[in-house]
Amino acid sequence: MEIIKTVEKLMEVAVRERAAGKTIGMVPTMGALHEGHLSLIRRAHKENDVVFCSIFVNPVQFNNAEDLEKYPRTLEADVKLIGDLADYVFAPSVEEVFPVAPTEVYDFGTMANVMEGAARPGHFNGVGVIVRRLLEWVRPHKAYFGEKDYQQIAVIREMCAQCRILAEIVPCPIVREPNGLAMSSRNRRLSAHEFETAANIHRILEASKQCKSVPEIQQFVESEIAKIPEFQLDYFEIADAKTLLTTDTLNNPNGVMGFITVYVGPVRLIDNIKYR
Ligand code: PAJ
Repeated sequence: MEIIKTVEKLMEVAVRERAAGKTIGMVPTMGALHEGHLSLIRRAHKENDVVFCSIFVNPVQFNNAEDLEKYPRTLEADVKLIGDLADYVFAPSVEEVFPVAPTEVYDFGTMANVMEGAARPGHFNGVGVIVRRLLEWVRPHKAYFGEKDYQQIAVIREMCAQCRILAEIVPCPIVREPNGLAMSSRNRRLSAHEFETAANIHRILEASKQCKSVPEIQQFVESEIAKIPEFQLDYFEIADAKTLLTTDTLNNPNGVMGFITVYVGPVRLIDNIKYR
């Protein structure tokens, strides 16, 4: 595996691999890698001749300076974990990616303004900015994203449609801790007790599959979350799996998902579940 620091080198290598007839898979990340990330990289490794993984803590998708500052940066350990699962790791500086502050403003429609979009203004615009650059520089055949960030995948698909980026977007299932908690770089900020308590998020969502209607699910999840003193619910929304707009029926032809965000102490955790 080769570590690449500059955009020039990244493009040079990607063009060369493409010209050699190789299929290219790409996995964008912000590092602090765990099994969730590695599952994407493994899949890319299986499905493509050549894999690019990027590790870049993208400042323009953070709307909270403290969150950006606190984001774990563990490049050396990340590179070890990736080993030979990727051929190239792109780990640029902020100045390399953004020689000037980016000014692009996208309109991804309502889908980007609900849930995470509403809670974190500008977040998805920042995701669009970085993912567009990465996909245009590398021009992968396939790009892999985790369903833990389900809304992010929808926004990235929309960005690709708007910008005529032809990479196939491959959604990958959520990888969980043995206790059910969705793996996240933020989990390392939880105490041992909080880590165990946080597993209730997934337990409650799983149990809510027994409910017979949207209002019943909503009521069940909200009341179960409220029973746990360490939890502070940010939102729980039941939405159309495609448009991400709230739905009041489980008989929705696009499918129905539940999206939850919970504060466990100061740590904000997200998860989701498929109902239909
Ligand atoms: P990051 O949070 O590092 O996540 C990188 C990729 O790993 C995302 O596609 C995310 O959905 C996926 N991922 C994280 N935890 C996962 C889990 N438990 N199971 C499966 N997949 C998981 O998401 C980002 O970075 C950034 O927004 C990025 C797309 C890189 C743009 O900066």
